[in-house]
Parts: sequence; C-alpha cells; structure tokens
Amino acid sequence: MGNTKIQINKTNASRLSEVDFANINFGKVFSDHMFMADFENGEWKNFEILPFQNLEFNPAFNSLHYGQSVFEGMKAHLDADGNVVLFRPLDNFARLNRSCERLCMATIDPQIMLDGLSELVKIDKEWIPKTEDGALYIRPFIFATDEFIGVAPSETYKMVIFTCPVNKYYDAAVKVKVEDHYSRAAKGGVGFAKAAGNYAASLLPAKKAAEEGYDQLIWTDATEHKYIEESGTMNLMTIIDGKIVTPPAGETILGGITRDAVLTIANDLGYKVEERPLSVDEVIEAQKAGKLEDMFGTGTAVTITHISGFGRNGIDYELPPVSERKISTHLKNELEAIKRNQNHSHKEWLVIVK
Ligand code: COI
Repeated sequence: MGNTKIQINKTNASRLSEVDFANINFGKVFSDHMFMADFENGEWKNFEILPFQNLEFNPAFNSLHYGQSVFEGMKAHLDADGNVVLFRPLDNFARLNRSCERLCMATIDPQIMLDGLSELVKIDKEWIPKTEDGALYIRPFIFATDEFIGVAPSETYKMVIFTCPVNKYYDAAVKVKVEDHYSRAAKGGVGFAKAAGNYAASLLPAKKAAEEGYDQLIWTDATEHKYIEESGTMNLMTIIDGKIVTPPAGETILGGITRDAVLTIANDLGYKVEERPLSVDEVIEAQKAGKLEDMFGTGTAVTITHISGFGRNGIDYELPPVSERKISTHLKNELEAIKRNQNHSHKEWLVIVK
C-alpha cells in the first residue's frame, strides 16, 4: 500500500440495505462512497473519500464543451477468504494515463489511484455482489474543470472513482451489424483512448442498427470498411477452423485488458491464436464454409459476450448455438476463476486488498 494521504469522510446513511443484488440494472446503482482528487497548479491534491453525491460544476467547464474527459472500467470481486480482489488495476491506470496524454490532459501517478481505490473498496466492501455473475464495477475518470471556453488544454482537472455493484452487462448473446458507413476510429485519431467522445460518436450508428433489429455494431476500418476492428464497446474475437483470430490492438483498436487476458489464457491453454487483420469477407467466407465456430466480444463490463449472428448489407449470418462454443466458454470460466483468485495462474494480475 502506498503513502497517499487521503481524507476520509464516511456516510452515516448507507444505502446498502435498499439494494436488491439479484436485480441490478448495470450502471444505475452506486455504492456509498467515492474517491476524488483535484489537479491544480501542476499537481494532484485534495485526496478524499466521501459519500457518493452530486458534484457542483461551472457551466463553462471546458470538458463539457470540448470533451477533455477520459475514463476506465475495472472490476473487483471477493475471494474465498473475503478479500477484495482487483484485476490488473495498474494496467487500467496506465491506459487511463495514455488516454490523458492523447487528450492533452494531466496524467496521475498510478499509485495514487491504486491507494485511493484500495481504500475505497475496503470501505464499500459490502457492496461487492456475491452472486455468480456479480462484480463491483469500478469507474475511474478524469475531466477538465477550467472555467474557460477558449479552445485550449485545461490547467485544472478532477479525478473521481466511484463503484457500482453489477451483474451481467448483456443478458444473452448479441446480434451485430457490420457498419459500413460510420467509423469509430481513424488512424491518427483517438480510437486507442477511452475518451468519452468516442462513446458519444457511437450512439447514433448503434441506434440506427437497433432500428434494423441489431443489438450492436461491428466497427470496420475507416478507410475501406473492409477490416473488422471492434464490436460495440468490446474487442472482437472469432474462432475460425479451430483458431482464435482477432485484429491487433493499436491506433484504432482499444488495447483491451480483458482482450489481453483472454489471449494470454488462450495461449497458456494451448489454443492457437492469430492476431492479424481480419476482413469481413474472410469471416463471411468462413461462415459459408461452416468454419466460423465462434464470435465473441471481450471487455471489462461484458467479460466475454457471445455473438449470436451478424448482418451485412441486409444479409444475416448465423453462428452456432452458444452451447457448442466450447473454447470461448472454457476461456471465460478460466478468466472468471482467475479474477476471483480461485486459480493458481496469473497471480501477478491480482491486487488483493486485505
Ligand atoms: C467496459 O467494458 O468497462 C467499458 O468500457 C464498457 C462501458 C462503456 C460500459
């Protein structure tokens, strides 16, 4: 544990007893406390844990106008001894800083965030669901707070971490549409960052796809709409003829921490993995030849979510039933066990908060 001096002000009106843990809408239930800090005069200060509450803001906050706002998504579970287990938190904080750098925002020492988060999850430990699919979803974010509507990097920022008890993000496998007009990311852009604006830009295309009966999109490259990039807010993986094939993370594809964990576990378990450009045509050909065994998304919120089928140009392509998807189900079970400290592999990914 680090040395961050954190002022702690606990609530005397916990909302815990109001929560029905079996029926939680993702992202709508917030734990009792949050961690906050301010960036002013070139340094992070005012580290505090306080009751979850509304924040005051000035209408000229430049994050509201020009989008200097980045976030992360992480999860915590309880292990068999009742300790809080954080999964790869330093990887998330490193990515948060990469997002800050790209958006020209102040970065923050990952140890400060880890100290704040560790203290926060200790205080709100009772909020961690004990249900099979449950987790404490952790939302760290940083936004610009200069009261100035000139277009310039803010000189002040606020960092907040709050948490939400959650169950599954999607209740069932999702049907996706190959997007061939809108783009999520372009070379030289901000696709690799978890910039709030990336998610805003995805909403209209996703809404249009929903009107056509699809749950989400498959994003393709911005130049030719030929190569698969991501799916909705998830990294995308396929299993073609026994091999896990997924596009490489990079400038336009978020370096997902779940993505990396799944590929690492797949390699450990001896599955064949190919990270290479994957065209929509190749996937359609594989489907037609009966070789497209699986398609699934990976992400913190979704862990592994199966894709039931996909559509392109009005034609729908079906995938095998989820009950036949042995490899991805194996990977999901391994990952979930590691995240709950039930498995002896990859202890280096875990931070156990005692
Ligand atoms: C996550 O998996 O944490 C995400 O970023 C998805 C989120 C936008 C709900």
